Amino acid sequence: MRKGEKIIFGVMAVSVVVMIGVKITKNEEAGEDPGIPFYSTAQPDLTASAAKIMHLVNCKKCHSIWGTKDFTQSVPAPSLDGMGMFRTEEWLYKYFSAENPQEILPSRLKEEYRMPSLSNLTEKERRDLAKYIFSLKVEDWYLDETKKARYEKLTGKKYIANETDS
Ligand code: HEC
Repeated sequence: MRKGEKIIFGVMAVSVVVMIGVKITKNEEAGEDPGIPFYSTAQPDLTASAAKIMHLVNCKKCHSIWGTKDFTQSVPAPSLDGMGMFRTEEWLYKYFSAENPQEILPSRLKEEYRMPSLSNLTEKERRDLAKYIFSLKVEDWYLDETKKARYEKLTGKKYIANETDS
């Protein structure tokens, strides 16, 4: 091969490698898995404390959290995932401390399915629980979906964007 040919082949080889590289990167961007939209901002010690209380009260009997729920139960309570976007920590503390939570948030359900009073927990437990539930957030791209699901659970009605605001 002459020197000129070597240079031409060299340039062609480099171009092909670059083009393949660009194509692969583009495909990865297009087919990117958006992942799980829910996350918590809680520190590990708060998470551990809340997990204990939630296990004890068995929130999962009625609510799903991290996408899971007791599959033998069918209470249509709103999911706790992303709850920190809809309630303040103070509201949650008051709700968990109420003798009758339905005075704060009315229920459409039969007595046995309603949110139970957690006023028998200690003050620290109620504070930790409120702090933890408030730490449960959702990424922007899934916020509308979360809002919609919550509205439908709370009201038993279909959510129609812009007409209904929960
Ligand atoms: C017996 C079923 C049941 C259990 C157990 C239960 N909940 Fe609920 N919860 C509900 C229902 C149903 C609602 C909706 C209001 C209602 O109908 O009383 C609710 C409402 C809530 C809300 C307000 C929801 C919103 O969209 O604003 C929060 C927060 C909550 N529960 C957290 C918890 C936590 C944390 C636990 C466990 C420590 C728990 N719940 C245990 C049934 C339950």
